[in-house]
Amino acid sequence: MTYTGAAVELPPWRRKHLLGMEGLNREEIRLLLDTAASLREVNRRDIKKVPTLRGKTVINLFFENSTRTRTSFELAGKRMSADVINISASASSVTKGETLLDTVANLQAMNPDVVVIRHPESGAQAFVARHIDASVVNAGDGRHEHPTQALLDLLTIEDHLPQLGYGSLEGITVAICGDVLHSRVARSNAFALRTMGAHVRLVGPPTLMPAYAEEALGARVYHSMAAGLAGADVVMVLRLQRERMSSAYLPSVREYFTFWGLDQARLACAAPHAIVMHPGPINRGVEIASDIADHPQRSVILNQVSNGLAVRMAVLYRLCLGGQGKVT
Ligand code: CP
Repeated sequence: MTYTGAAVELPPWRRKHLLGMEGLNREEIRLLLDTAASLREVNRRDIKKVPTLRGKTVINLFFENSTRTRTSFELAGKRMSADVINISASASSVTKGETLLDTVANLQAMNPDVVVIRHPESGAQAFVARHIDASVVNAGDGRHEHPTQALLDLLTIEDHLPQLGYGSLEGITVAICGDVLHSRVARSNAFALRTMGAHVRLVGPPTLMPAYAEEALGARVYHSMAAGLAGADVVMVLRLQRERMSSAYLPSVREYFTFWGLDQARLACAAPHAIVMHPGPINRGVEIASDIADHPQRSVILNQVSNGLAVRMAVLYRLCLGGQGKVT
């Protein structure tokens, strides 16, 4: 079932870039979610293409690996008839010593409309945005933000509001579990969910919890899965980001699953209607048990991926064309 939202007049989109969820207000988030919800219909057609962004150029510049984000930005641009170029840092002149700024200056010389960037350093996209004319979309920067992931997560929760017994995101309880310290997904979701009126819990071991979590993210922190999941409407499991760990944050992966992995017993602590989310890629048996990840009623992980495509279409649409209201 699709959440249709309240019939409110939304202000037009005026931002040039999408760098994070922090600072976006409720109306801006609502506009992006409503735009994504209306664009979903395009993805269900036999001919999945509209001329909306004909003549626009989108460059995907990825300095980190990606399956979902890169593919869906590419598909989003192509489904709306934009010209889409994909660049992986490992196959570019970055490997010959070119700096980030020189790389984007050279891309800017080809006059793109949008540059979508994933980068391991927090703040890299904000830096680039100060130096080029094109719109910049943050497709994940270090531990900082991953705004389109938060948008697709909110859209997925909204799709399940009837099952959760709510009419809007206001008042729902979302438990974000695991490696919060290294997670840009957790930060973007905490900002966005709080703005939309949800209660956010951050659940994980003290070594994987940022010191600023409660004050900066407006969330409650729990160091026990049973307490953190108690009565939660949404359980969002985070990947253990071992590539961002420079020292020993946990004794072993097996021990991590024993204390922090989501299995049937732990999920039973949440509300009986609770849905399970994960941004992917999932590590089965590390942060989530396979039978939970594949659970036909509880897991909405692949719904998140489908919504990711619509959200990225919506972001490209609004950054290229601005405006407000229905788009199809
Ligand atoms: N959720 C997410 O960002 O997945 P990818 O790393 O595959 O893009």
